[in-house]
Amino acid sequence: MRVALVTGGARGIGAATVRKLAEDGWAVLACDIAADIPELGYPMASEAELHELVASSDGTVKAHVADVRDADAMHAAVAEAEREWGRIDAAVACAGAIAGGVPLWEMPTGAERAVLEVNLVGSMNLARAAIPVLLRQPEPRSGRFLAVASTAATHGLPMLASYCAAKAGVVGLVRALAAELGCTGVTANAVSPGSTSTPILEESARLYGLPDTEEFAQHQSVNRLLEPAEIANVLAFMAGQDSSAMNGSVVSVDGGFSL
Ligand SMILES: NC(=O)c1ccc[n+]([C@@H]2O[C@H](COP(=O)([O-])OP(=O)(O)OC[C@H]3O[C@@H](n4cnc5c(N)ncnc54)[C@H](O)[C@@H]3O)[C@@H](O)[C@H]2O)c1
Repeated sequence: MRVALVTGGARGIGAATVRKLAEDGWAVLACDIAADIPELGYPMASEAELHELVASSDGTVKAHVADVRDADAMHAAVAEAEREWGRIDAAVACAGAIAGGVPLWEMPTGAERAVLEVNLVGSMNLARAAIPVLLRQPEPRSGRFLAVASTAATHGLPMLASYCAAKAGVVGLVRALAAELGCTGVTANAVSPGSTSTPILEESARLYGLPDTEEFAQHQSVNRLLEPAEIANVLAFMAGQDSSAMNGSVVSVDGGFSL
């Protein structure tokens, strides 16, 4: 049985990834802050959502409350997965948060820092905690570090400068990790989702003063919003042993946003 740790696992793309991996026979530690971040203008997932996800699984999903901004908490989460299942095979940095709605120079610094710390530092903290454990496995290894970037990593989206900077940082992080991991058998890759129906997209609509999220569908050639499960399907493939030829890849899962 392969073992994964997924941050941001209580809802949205993270929860869909936890479900998909569990369906595929993985044991999964679903990590989430499960509490609000005062500097941000919308709620994070609740502890109830995290526990509902676990209750709906067949016993191979465990909940773990942890803030990705806290490096020690990421070490503790990895240790918890190892204690429970004896190993980890994949670490998925999915926790993310957004703020903006004003140009960078008008952005409150607290919100700016929160966006950088959750999206970028949080991914670095998970990599720092999980990769040594992935490397500790005997050869041939097939450990996977995965991060969730965004189309915002490669497009200048107005009023979302700190989010764009953080996600571009995630792409840079994954590429550098891939080079560092070299021929170890452990790989680092990212997905860049397009507009997907989750609370972060609802917050993006609010930041742009839009009545709802439907406007975002027009920027994707499929002309619809994506479902979290569609991103999770790709992440689950990338977490598996069959993705061994991918290292430093940033896979667009964006319904044709980047055409
Ligand atoms: N939905 C989209 O359109 C979209 C597009 C591109 C990229 N993304 C990225 O996908 C990832 C998942 O987002 P989502 O769409 O599911 O949004 P979401 O808001 O539903 O989920 C984000 C999850 O991260 C958790 N989280 C936030 N801060 C945390 C922290 N400090 N520590 C631990 N957990 C924390 C939240 O509680 C929540 O469960 C994010 O990295 C996001 O930036 C989303």
